[in-house]
Amino acid sequence: MNTSRRKFIRSTTATVAGLGLTNTLSASVLAHSKVLGANDQITVALIGARNMGWYNLTDLLKQPNVVCKTLCDVDDSVLAEKSEALVKKGQKKPILEKDYRNVLEDKDIDAVIVGTPDHWHCLPTVEACGAGKHVYVEKPLGNSIGEINVMLDAARKYKSIVQVGQQQRSGVHWKSAIAFVQSGKLGTIRQVKYWGNFNYGAGNLPVPDSDPPEGVDYDRWLGPAPKRPFNKNRFHGSWRMFRDYGGGLMTDWGVHLIDMGLWAMDVKSAPRSVSSIGGNFANNDRALEMPDTLTVLYEMDGYNMLWEHNGGVQTGPYNQNYGVKFMGTNGTLVADRQKWRVFPEGEGEEQRMEATREQVSDNKSHINHCENFVRAIRYGDELHAEIEIGHRAALYAHLGNISFWAKDRVVYDEKSRRITNSEIADALVTPDYRAPWKFPSL
Ligand SMILES: NC(=O)c1ccc[n+]([C@@H]2O[C@H](COP(=O)([O-])OP(=O)(O)OC[C@H]3O[C@@H](n4cnc5c(N)ncnc54)[C@H](O)[C@@H]3O)[C@@H](O)[C@H]2O)c1
Repeated sequence: MNTSRRKFIRSTTATVAGLGLTNTLSASVLAHSKVLGANDQITVALIGARNMGWYNLTDLLKQPNVVCKTLCDVDDSVLAEKSEALVKKGQKKPILEKDYRNVLEDKDIDAVIVGTPDHWHCLPTVEACGAGKHVYVEKPLGNSIGEINVMLDAARKYKSIVQVGQQQRSGVHWKSAIAFVQSGKLGTIRQVKYWGNFNYGAGNLPVPDSDPPEGVDYDRWLGPAPKRPFNKNRFHGSWRMFRDYGGGLMTDWGVHLIDMGLWAMDVKSAPRSVSSIGGNFANNDRALEMPDTLTVLYEMDGYNMLWEHNGGVQTGPYNQNYGVKFMGTNGTLVADRQKWRVFPEGEGEEQRMEATREQVSDNKSHINHCENFVRAIRYGDELHAEIEIGHRAALYAHLGNISFWAKDRVVYDEKSRRITNSEIADALVTPDYRAPWKFPSL
């Protein structure tokens, strides 16, 4: 990148001591944060390259003048496969890395994609902010409330551009659904309900522990999570059913759908309280720690908000296996990623609102989201899923899980960042990190 071509270079300085990270970067990288000119090349690196991270990179590379310099993963086979695929896309052969800290040391890198499992979002994101990189981090923002709080703080401290992978925010039909809810035509909204019924939420059949596959740095894959023997079910793709690495359907789909309700209802704060009930009622023979059946009640001002998921089934209300419903006094709007529809109350002359044609998706939400990230870097466009949006959705989802684990209604205080009515629940706010990794402090 030719620095002289940059229209403007913003500089933020931080010290290693100030960052308080052990997982340290050298002092030399802790200075910078760039705003790029319209014609500047944006050089990205991908951290966590197997599935969603790769999809993000693919759509970022469709944006003008974006190149990938480095792929970082702890699995050699993923690095080899994606490196070959990048070259096939006409990109230069990338640098291959197993340690994300080396990526952050590279001053050529303007932005990183964090596409690792949820327990590995926090450290790379916080440190990338400290190193002046722009960040596209997957959802849920972190694997605990403590993590999402420190990630938000880091983004604010270093004035970082952080887009969270809640791509529904960039979906045109979602935007029109939200506008319709906000128009008041549905009358008074009394209930917002989300549901997610997915077969994968039942978990896989158990398999015995084994050696990690060749070429996998398993200790690094675990990172700050507790040390455990390798088990295929806790690894690529299915880790999200285990608490150390993910939050099951509640955080996986929960953040996407709850985000739509928080957007439409213009929610800017934590719920008054959260109560969850559920269990693994139908899939006890499977390898999963998360409840296959969960119902969560969020106490909101003036309406009820509910989350419900069922792993191992794929049918649901309105013939949709997942969705969001806004129930008003005049009618109900129901949406998923393909469409939204309105069901007016009353019949004939008694119908309380005009019928509305079904609105369909253009299926461009993901590429729009990537474009928005690039435009935010180049032109200062407002991010569609700025970190605060990811933070709020993740907060709601994690509170749902915490209430379930603590078997208690929970009340979260945003000022003290604590659960004030239950010590058991409060102890779940911030995870213990396994040495040598340290929970970041700013
Ligand atoms: N936005 C969406 O619609 C969407 C869809 C799917 C997944 N996701 C999110 O994307 C993230 C990744 O999910 P996935 O399905 O791609 O998981 P995955 O298991 O398929 O891939 C994760 C990759 O990260 C690598 N990895 C693990 N630790 C690493 C480390 N310390 N450094 C570098 N690489 C590391 C793994 O080896 C693996 O290749 C999750 O947070 C998930 O919730 C989002």
